[in-house]
Amino acid sequence: MAAYGERIYEGKAKILYKTSRGTLVHFFKDFATAFNAQKKQEFEGKGAANLKISSMIFEYLKRTGIRVHFLKLIDERSFESEALTMLPVEVVVRNILAGSLAKRLQEKEGLPLHPPLVEFYYKSDEKGDPLVSDDILIALYKQSPADLKTLKEMALKTNEALKKLFDRAGLILADFKLEFGKTASGEIILADEVSPDTCRLWDKVSGEKLDKDRFRFDLGDLMTGYRQVCARVEAALKEVA
Ligand code: ADP
Ligand code: TMP
Ligand code: ASP
Repeated sequence: MAAYGERIYEGKAKILYKTSRGTLVHFFKDFATAFNAQKKQEFEGKGAANLKISSMIFEYLKRTGIRVHFLKLIDERSFESEALTMLPVEVVVRNILAGSLAKRLQEKEGLPLHPPLVEFYYKSDEKGDPLVSDDILIALYKQSPADLKTLKEMALKTNEALKKLFDRAGLILADFKLEFGKTASGEIILADEVSPDTCRLWDKVSGEKLDKDRFRFDLGDLMTGYRQVCARVEAALKEVA
């Protein structure tokens, strides 16, 4: 894989290469991890599915006017992006109560959240990505209030676009996580990936969970869910093309 460029980082789901053009190549691994990588398993086809889903979604978001890092597909396992200085924040948007928030509040999963919630988690594997307030990000982690405002606005705009797309695909977008980075000129743009690893997606009719919760909580074969998400998003995008 030397052809991609210099290997600069290996994370839980992807490997990053720096190209001679100054851009990045994201290689999508076949591993799924959960609970800060305490649970880990390889699934043939996962990298290809997440790459395809993410790429289709970035192209779609770009058309709706959201600035994204995605430049182009390289092959069936990797895409090229702008190289950014990442903000150390995971931005979670919640439309429906689920996951860690349902657990923390001891409330029933599935309750609607109006208006949608935006939460910040400080991105740190060692600390287990703790939930943090705006004030903590500003006072302790030296993030700027203006940047946090931009993150919230961009996350909510992305939510509206994604909800529309997934609805056409027969899927409920319960919640999802986004990451953002800054360009050399200081512009904040959407980065990383948007896939069933990072979104909770439920079948509109049956309520079946088609995302990484299948792996996290042993709900069924992971790839059966991911293949469905991929096919349905592809079909939904063709409808409007
Ligand atoms: P993790 O690092 O959380 O284990 P991944 O395995 O998905 O996650 O690794 C991808 C890494 O690339 C993440 O740390 C993410 O913040 C970073 N990243 C995503 N997009 C960009 C970008 N455009 N420029 C620089 N870094 C990026
Ligand atoms: P949570 O309910 O576990 O906090 O997750 C909220 C959303 O964020 C859910 O769609 C899954 C996604 N997520 C990630 O993408 N990466 C993570 O490390 C975690 C914990 C959640
Ligand atoms: N992405 C995290 C991990 O790999 C947690 C998760 O998605 O549940 O551990």
